Amino acid sequence: MKTSSRGRCCRAAIALVFLAAAAHAASFPAARGAGGAVATAEVDATAAGLEILRAGGNAVDAVIASALALAVVHPQAGNLGGGGFAVVRMGNELVTLDFREVAPAAAGRDMYLDASGERRPDASTLGPLAAGVPGTPTGLHLLHARLGSLPWRDVVEPARTLAGDGFRVTRRLHESIDNRSDLLATFPETAKVWLPNGAPPPIGSTKRLPLLADTLAAYAVDGPAALTRGPVAERVVAVSRRHGGILTAEDLAAYRPEWRRPIRFEAFGWRFASMDQPSSGGIILAQVFGLLERLGWAELEPGGADWFHLVAEAWRQAFVDRLLLGDPSSSDASAAELLAPARLDRLARELPRDRARESRSMVALGAPPAESAETTHLSVIDRDGNAVALTTTLNGSFGSKLWVPGFGFLNNEMDDFTTAPGRPNLYGLVQGEANTIAPGRRMLSSMSPTIAWRGDERFVFGGQGGSKIPTASSWVALGALVDGLPLQAAVDRPRIHHQWLPDAIQTESDSLSPETRAALVARGHAVVPVDFTAKVCVARRLASGLFEAAGDPRGPDAGGVVDPQ
Ligand code: GLY
Repeated sequence: MKTSSRGRCCRAAIALVFLAAAAHAASFPAARGAGGAVATAEVDATAAGLEILRAGGNAVDAVIASALALAVVHPQAGNLGGGGFAVVRMGNELVTLDFREVAPAAAGRDMYLDASGERRPDASTLGPLAAGVPGTPTGLHLLHARLGSLPWRDVVEPARTLAGDGFRVTRRLHESIDNRSDLLATFPETAKVWLPNGAPPPIGSTKRLPLLADTLAAYAVDGPAALTRGPVAERVVAVSRRHGGILTAEDLAAYRPEWRRPIRFEAFGWRFASMDQPSSGGIILAQVFGLLERLGWAELEPGGADWFHLVAEAWRQAFVDRLLLGDPSSSDASAAELLAPARLDRLARELPRDRARESRSMVALGAPPAESAETTHLSVIDRDGNAVALTTTLNGSFGSKLWVPGFGFLNNEMDDFTTAPGRPNLYGLVQGEANTIAPGRRMLSSMSPTIAWRGDERFVFGGQGGSKIPTASSWVALGALVDGLPLQAAVDRPRIHHQWLPDAIQTESDSLSPETRAALVARGHAVVPVDFTAKVCVARRLASGLFEAAGDPRGPDAGGVVDPQ
């Protein structure tokens, strides 16, 4: 059944979210229920999380089951060969886990530059030289070991079943492969699995990944050692080497996740916990919410020029500060410094209400570097109100495009480092000196897994979309928590984006009225329409005790014929 573009997007999004509800009472458009909430990018992954909640698992068990399912059914971003961040609230305990990839021991600052100092095309995005040491196998297991409640093997089982018995190839997956078939065909290992007979698996066909099922079975028994040592690890290293990579068995075995303190802040009557460095996401959110509250943003007329101007200027400021960030060991600033109340007071005072600032006048730096857009976010709340915001990534869609048999795609996360200082990365984002490449260092991220709460209410959010993650995530939270929009309306609301450089407000086609656009241009803003690829997933517990979940209708992968569910 074909429908109009906007209509089919919304319907597709509805298929992505469910609630673990004893009395499932789905209402259009956000899903509602009484047993908990799971929101992920794929129906099969959401179902895996729900299965675990129904089996008595907690939010941590469910989010891990969903994340592993995504490694099977959503190979664009779900992974064993990448990394991510988890923000968890269990009872009153708040923790974050950093399982971000790290640079291999043989990596170096100028590894992507040629003899004349120019960036070598594709070196940091295509093939295993682009891969950081994966953190997912150890990270998910550690998260479960500390905070899970069901046996580990039960949590892995839904993903193993999907890989072994097979899953249905969606239009979204088919088109994602088709759109990148030239790059995926670069590697015979990838082409064999994802381009059989030279074409993507047909929509509606059943895809089995028996070697990955074997690996997941071993992971269920032996934990991360099944992937970071022994035959699977040897295969990762051999396939990487075959195509010019530098990963070693020692790199894989040495990887360690890190528990970190969350970024905590309060704004608009809500408390928030988000991810600190090596992500920039939590600092950006805290700064933007702090500035907007000081500027009286909630009192402005929604949709007017003042309203958009202040958000754009707050984001511009936050992305300037982002230049200082990186791995905590190399960062030039801390959250405490950047978010100090006196500093936010001053920044709010100095923020001009009547004119756009010039990005390049705010910091002395050459041209901007870039970040990649395919990542995936999961939001889960269990019936007790425990909550997990988990964002996991390969960086680009299908990461490095190199599929390691029985393991999955290797990430291309090295492109999130400052690979050529002063130049823009995959997302047009300029990065700073603190984020240069060094062995064992974590690359700066924009991932923004965040939990907000007010009394018994919970609001768990985050997204995918590279540098648009923190702006899209904060925009959705502002819509629901400050403007009081219904959950799905907050996700669907047309967005704007600003990331300092390029020096422009980026807009969806229906974000601004002609009058507002003209008023923003008159203040000196460049206004540039773009295709938005950021997608946000939200789970919420309302004051009534009911749960809601919402997915995002956006992006080329979300459209097309609605899949019957
Ligand atoms: N690779 C996207 C991010 O970490 O922000």
